[in-house]
Amino acid sequence: SPEPPTYTIGFSQCTNGDAWRQAMLAGMKKELSFYPEVKFQIKDAKYNSALQEQQIKEFLREGIDLLIVSANETEPITPIVEEVYNRGIPVVILDRRITSKLYTAYVGGNNEEVGQIAGNYVASLLGRRGQVLEVLGAPGTSPAVDRHRGFAQTLATYPGIQLTAQVNSNWERPSVLERLPAVLRAHPEVDLIFAHNDRLALGAYQVCKQLQLDQRIRIVGVDGLPGAHGGIQLVQDDILKATLLYSPGGEEAIRTAMRVLRQQPYDKENILGTMVIDSTNVLTMKLQTEKLTSQQQDIQRQQRLLQQQRDTYASQQTVLYVLAAA
Ligand code: FRU
Repeated sequence: SPEPPTYTIGFSQCTNGDAWRQAMLAGMKKELSFYPEVKFQIKDAKYNSALQEQQIKEFLREGIDLLIVSANETEPITPIVEEVYNRGIPVVILDRRITSKLYTAYVGGNNEEVGQIAGNYVASLLGRRGQVLEVLGAPGTSPAVDRHRGFAQTLATYPGIQLTAQVNSNWERPSVLERLPAVLRAHPEVDLIFAHNDRLALGAYQVCKQLQLDQRIRIVGVDGLPGAHGGIQLVQDDILKATLLYSPGGEEAIRTAMRVLRQQPYDKENILGTMVIDSTNVLTMKLQTEKLTSQQQDIQRQQRLLQQQRDTYASQQTVLYVLAAA
């Protein structure tokens, strides 16, 4: 039978430095193990848009068959992604969008909806009355812009709720530890903090604790990762009242990429669902994700065994050749 065609996929990642991005990469690698003919290359832009642009240019020079990209910031990354697309190289946008329609497919959550669901949840948690502070993701990144839009528009429909204050961040906890104390001191009446991810939400909790506001101020985050320091655990420990599930989508991105490369039908918009994780369902979520993790470990063990058997077979073949030649 003819060998399957080989492909090179380049993945331009805005940062690879946090657990959510690592879960994304783990999902990609798991899915890639079904396609041994694929060469997969990742470049980490370390939150630097100029570096990301340069790295995508490197991909163009080195030669790739498909680009997967999580744009560090929407505007600066749009032109180079358009260039890739215009050269006839398919582009899968993962999680962080560009402004242009010139891409092959999108895989990721609907961040405006994440903001809307958070807004309605927060309103009901507060009994439709209260002061809310929002900790935003980095300016100019599509999830921050969209989560904010959905959240602010939804809160505006509740006359008893005010979006009292906002704090910008760079998506990472130290920026909250630095900026939130002054804002909270200026607005001690705040009842609830909505943070655009769980790392920021944990930072907000630490600040509230320092200022002895942790008993009163409730905190809601986004991501809902499993694992020791993930959002699911933070909800279970009652550090967060809730988190909005936001799937990293690594498996789905590779699956979509392979459909594109193999010229099979695919959807342009592949929206991963969200849901509220709070005290009512956190245990179920925890058990489900733990079960998934253990099943994934089983699969990996089976793959290792299979590889060992292939290696043994290959070395036996070599012995046979040597004997036949003698
Ligand atoms: C991870 C992250 C997530 C967030 C997403 C938005 O790098 O900061 O916490 O949901 O990026 O793109």
